[in-house]
Amino acid sequence: MKVFNNLSNRIYPVRESINNNLSNGMKEELKNIKEKILAEIKKINLPEEFYDLEKKYLGRKGEFTKLTKSIKDLTQEQKPIIGKLANEIKIELEEVFSNLKGNIEEGFDDLKNRINFDATIQSKKKEVGHLHPNTIIQNEVVDIFSSMGFMVLDGPELESEYYNFETLNVLSTHPARDMQDTYFIKTDKNFKKSEKLVLRTHTSAMQVRAIEEFGAPLRAIFPGKCFRNEATDASHDNTFYQLEGLMIDKNISISNLVAVMSTLLAEIFKKDVKTRLRPGYFPFVEPGFELDINCLICGGKGCSVCGDGWVELIPCGLVHPQVIKNGGLDPQEYSGFAFGMGLTRLVMMRYGINDIRLLQSGDLRFTKQF
Ligand code: DAH
Repeated sequence: MKVFNNLSNRIYPVRESINNNLSNGMKEELKNIKEKILAEIKKINLPEEFYDLEKKYLGRKGEFTKLTKSIKDLTQEQKPIIGKLANEIKIELEEVFSNLKGNIEEGFDDLKNRINFDATIQSKKKEVGHLHPNTIIQNEVVDIFSSMGFMVLDGPELESEYYNFETLNVLSTHPARDMQDTYFIKTDKNFKKSEKLVLRTHTSAMQVRAIEEFGAPLRAIFPGKCFRNEATDASHDNTFYQLEGLMIDKNISISNLVAVMSTLLAEIFKKDVKTRLRPGYFPFVEPGFELDINCLICGGKGCSVCGDGWVELIPCGLVHPQVIKNGGLDPQEYSGFAFGMGLTRLVMMRYGINDIRLLQSGDLRFTKQF
């Protein structure tokens, strides 16, 4: 027993050192072969040479592959250590080869320069996108209204003249048509007059659609894209976003309108914002108002966005009885309020953007800031 113990004690260290030598040798070999491959890569002139090199080292019978196969002869303790090293080197080499292959396949003429430059560079970073400021603010406002029990409805951007104008008391001969310079769409001559199409000029086009579909009581908002044939400047663009709101029920009055608007503004700006209510004319509300806020870009002094220190933010009013009737409800029984918020304006106020055209410009220097 004793003898056997002694023997094993003696034999073991000897084996260990053989194995240590073996694994140290392997470490060296792996590192050397990596250096050799990277050095040879730099000497490549032609794409064919690249493919030969890849085969010579990383192919099924390649030198590097063969070397990694001998890991299995190491001891249980050494195998994971050397295995890990071999794997790391393999990944690194594969990355270098795959980068180069990408360059070759993209057809770079000065392959050699690319190779010298790129040989050990990491593969391209994958960029992750993010929401556009319009979407960020729209989501925020939608959340506020959802918390007040409003449903959120989408609507067509290519809208009929009927819903965009006629249901809202703007008949074809009404001077209010001039208030919105519209993109009219050529339609087939078989289209009925009421089916003529326009790019919707406002989200109010959803008012009667919503009443028709859901009746009363109704609390809904309609966020979305609108279009007008504008001469563009710092505060006008041909494409912009609005968020329309509509509440229909029995006994709805201006107090309901003011309460909802105040809750909204307090939530959006998270601070006291000065507001003013002026009379405003819109054919589909009676009475109609303009709710202005003190400009948050210049602090009310006057700037390129606001002009005189006030920004028209929320035109609103009590829904005109005819509109309620157009939706199929009895205006004697139901009343309501509506508002059409300039979502794009709100985005500009929140982030201090002084030119509306930046929002649609697609300029990454701008968009990446959000
Ligand atoms: N649709 C109007 C526009 O774009 C804005 C508007 C005014 C909407 C009054 C409303 C409202 O709901 O009550 O100019």
